[in-house]
Amino acid sequence: MSNVNNKQFDVVVIGGGPGGYVAAIRAAQLGFSAACIDAWTNEKGGPAPGGTCTNVGCIPSKALLQSSEHYEHAGHAFADHGIAVTGLELNVGKMLARKNTIVKQNNDGIVYLFKKNKVSFFHGHGAFLQKVDAGYEIKVSGKTEEVIVGKHIIVATGSNARQLPGAEFDEDLILSNDGALKITEVPKKLGVIGAGVIGLEMGSVWRRCGAAVTVLEALPTFLGAVDEQIAKEAHKLFTKQGLAISLGVKIGDIVKGDQQVTVNYTDAKGEVQQAVFDKLIVSIGRTPNTDGLNAQAIGLQLDERGFVAVDADCKTNLPNVWAVGDVVRGPMLAHKAEEEGVAVAERIAGQHGHVNFNTIPWVIYTSPEIAWVGRTEQQLKADGVAYKSGSFPFMANGRARALGDTSGMVKMLADATTDEILGVHIIGPMASELIAEAVVAMEFRASSEDIARICHAHPSLSESTKEAALAVDKRSLNF
Ligand code: FAD
Ligand code: NAI
Repeated sequence: MSNVNNKQFDVVVIGGGPGGYVAAIRAAQLGFSAACIDAWTNEKGGPAPGGTCTNVGCIPSKALLQSSEHYEHAGHAFADHGIAVTGLELNVGKMLARKNTIVKQNNDGIVYLFKKNKVSFFHGHGAFLQKVDAGYEIKVSGKTEEVIVGKHIIVATGSNARQLPGAEFDEDLILSNDGALKITEVPKKLGVIGAGVIGLEMGSVWRRCGAAVTVLEALPTFLGAVDEQIAKEAHKLFTKQGLAISLGVKIGDIVKGDQQVTVNYTDAKGEVQQAVFDKLIVSIGRTPNTDGLNAQAIGLQLDERGFVAVDADCKTNLPNVWAVGDVVRGPMLAHKAEEEGVAVAERIAGQHGHVNFNTIPWVIYTSPEIAWVGRTEQQLKADGVAYKSGSFPFMANGRARALGDTSGMVKMLADATTDEILGVHIIGPMASELIAEAVVAMEFRASSEDIARICHAHPSLSESTKEAALAVDKRSLNF
């Protein structure tokens, strides 16, 4: 850590997650003196930049999803390929150690990128002190305390898991995303409250490892933000895999015992139920993290839900103070945070940084994966937009058959008059990768005919996107 007091920077970023560290790098690339303050600390007390995403989010969850998928394939899918597996064993300790190594590689990668781009990194907690002539003073509390000044400040302090009142996280029996990524022994019975993105991804990990997983969701609809047809398919497939999903429940008392936790709830029929779990993951959304930022010292405005209030350009109520990522409105996604971070650095440089909220892709990394961009069929109906729809099942795709992974479909929605693509919705193998083509298409305002006329490699899963585009015009070739 630097010991220079009152060090002055053009841009100081508070928070080193995907929003913050990328903003700091982009600011440095644009010729600014840039600093990034991040509080995340590893088990040895050292810095661990990368935020939620790197430490307890995107990266470790995908590592465990991959390991658990290999385990499930070895146990169930390999036999179809003529590969006999005997003595299959899961070493949870090794699986977690691999995940930790991947996290560390990402932490180290960011430290390297800071050095490469000459971003000054401060490991510690940042809090506003006061407005001064040269900008804003920030107190950094780490191994030592110091004050730095930024002409521009970017707040990128991210989010934390929301607690359920009366069932606070202890990370032993009642787990947030953090604890859910550190379970050292496969629980026999795992409860999950909230059938959102984390609940489905982490529920899938531990189900594949052998846990009996029950997911309790308050809403009567499954994955309400997802296209209804895709959500219905997902519900069917996840249920078949063994996830016991109860919708429309009302959670009552949660009682912790020595080794187990009891969840009392009312089911959709109004009947009182009781379930006993070895571990309980609570994944009911996340809250913005502004704790300890001392926002009031400079009069930084928060909204009624505690997010830093910003306009469409990530400007706060104060001159030269910006905020990006999970701590502001909009989807809580790493790539959205990154795009905002880059755009803000460019706006500070007088450029026209831009984030297109209509083309931010979503991915749920279950098996099959779910990915989408643009509007769903139900949104188009609600918006009164006349549209055409085309879909193509992976069942009819040669590459999917070769992979042995034929569940799901690609669905394309296009404007009935102009044929502009309005949404693409995928459930199936590698949906996370396939969605990129749809994002590019929508960013360039392509029509479904554009995709239908583009040559796609054969055999590839991406041919399903082309076929869905052909289906919009009712001229599929392979279905
Ligand atoms: P964060 O990543 O939360 O980073 C904020 C950083 O600021 C943290 O390091 C924090 O310690 C630090 N900080 C906070 N306050 C201060 C302070 N006062 N001083 C100094 N430092 C401070 N998104 C995806 O797009 N894809 C995924 O696959 C995905 N998977 C996820 C899986 C899980 C289990 C979870 C929980 C989230 C996942 N997300 C995913 C969401 C993603 O992690 C977030 O959207 C993203 O991390 C937000 O980035 P951010 O920079 O805004 O904040
Ligand atoms: P979420 O918003 O995705 O899902 C929360 C679910 O909990 C909702 O379905 C909600 O109806 C339900 N719920 C809320 N209160 C409840 C209650 N009292 N009882 C029962 N159910 C209740 O939130 P989640 O899963 O916690 O994830 C947080 C965010 O992290 C996501 O919205 C997403 O932005 C991000 N994330 C992204 C991932 C990705 O991109 N693949 C992976 C994981 C997280």
